[in-house]
Amino acid sequence: MTILVTGGAGYVGSHVAAELLSSGYDVVIADNFSNSSPGVPRAVGRAAGREAECYEADMTDIAALDGVFSKGHIDGVIHCAGFKATGESVILPTAYYRNNIVSTLNLLDVMRARGVRHLIFSSSATVYGDPETLPLTETMAAWPCANPYGTTKLVNEKLIEDAAAADDSLSAVLLRYFNPVGAHRSGLIGEAPSGVPNNLMPYITQVALGRLERLSVYGDDYPTRDGTCIRDYIHVTDLARGHVAALRYCVGRAGVETVNLGRGEGCSVLELLSAFERVTGVRIPRVIAGRRAGDVAELRADVGKAYALLGWRAELSLDDMCRDAWSYAKASVSEY
Ligand code: WQD
Repeated sequence: MTILVTGGAGYVGSHVAAELLSSGYDVVIADNFSNSSPGVPRAVGRAAGREAECYEADMTDIAALDGVFSKGHIDGVIHCAGFKATGESVILPTAYYRNNIVSTLNLLDVMRARGVRHLIFSSSATVYGDPETLPLTETMAAWPCANPYGTTKLVNEKLIEDAAAADDSLSAVLLRYFNPVGAHRSGLIGEAPSGVPNNLMPYITQVALGRLERLSVYGDDYPTRDGTCIRDYIHVTDLARGHVAALRYCVGRAGVETVNLGRGEGCSVLELLSAFERVTGVRIPRVIAGRRAGDVAELRADVGKAYALLGWRAELSLDDMCRDAWSYAKASVSEY
């Protein structure tokens, strides 16, 4: 089977592409490289031991997207492309809505026109907003979202559900990611955002490398055990394996399923910092700063459905995440 990975040069997409290649799928990567490097697809090939085809295309341009499908037969799509920074989405809401929603609309139109029936969508735990109870199950209300980024993910879920209602041959799995961190064990691919990172782990590794002075901890007055936000961190390789499991589930079925991908364990910002320092031996200077707009106190997954439906569960630990994120950060410095 040939699978198109949109955003396949990005953090999650590159690990998904590598996992697909290692599992025997042929892979086509489409990316506009707006927050990734054109060198990533080659690194994916080296990490997996097999090459992916790669095209530069912006999915908001339907002709460019259709051009990717016209190069050869595509059996399914894993749609990872999109803007993804929660805080930035509060500042640039229209850019987030335009980019993330138009690209999915275009994808659904092109898939339908070309008879492509299998779709895995990168959604986010952010859709749950500020939840009243934990852990989060897929049937809980996913509204209102805490930020425009989350709203774009929820709207995209709805678009896919409506597309499947109108076309009973479409088979989709909406994967609600908790917080992916870490890097490929090879050290060849990892999280490499352009500019100053928005997400916690890449910020920590930049501080560890001495490129940034200190970490700002966004708020220590949340109603959590140490006052800092709690998230359900998951190794990106486990997350990528979850996509392959979802794809296998899709084949031969129709309809839409929504599945959480997390570990089911909460970890605070300070706990992640302690784990990183213990695993790497590197001290991370930090300062307590004000809360970041769009953040919620705690997110933690109920992971029962992922196992029941897909036979998938996370296997790697918080220490693995810290070790691999640090190995990748050090390796990417030595490339300069
Ligand atoms: C984690 C915690 C911050 C930076 C989003 C999306 C999710 C996934 C990952 C896509 C929060 C705190 C952060 C810093 C800090 N998206 N923090 N100082 O916002 O939970 O999740 O990104 O790929 O779907 O929703 O992740 O890593 O930005 O933040 O204190 O410099 O770290 O406040 O509590 P977030 P994050």
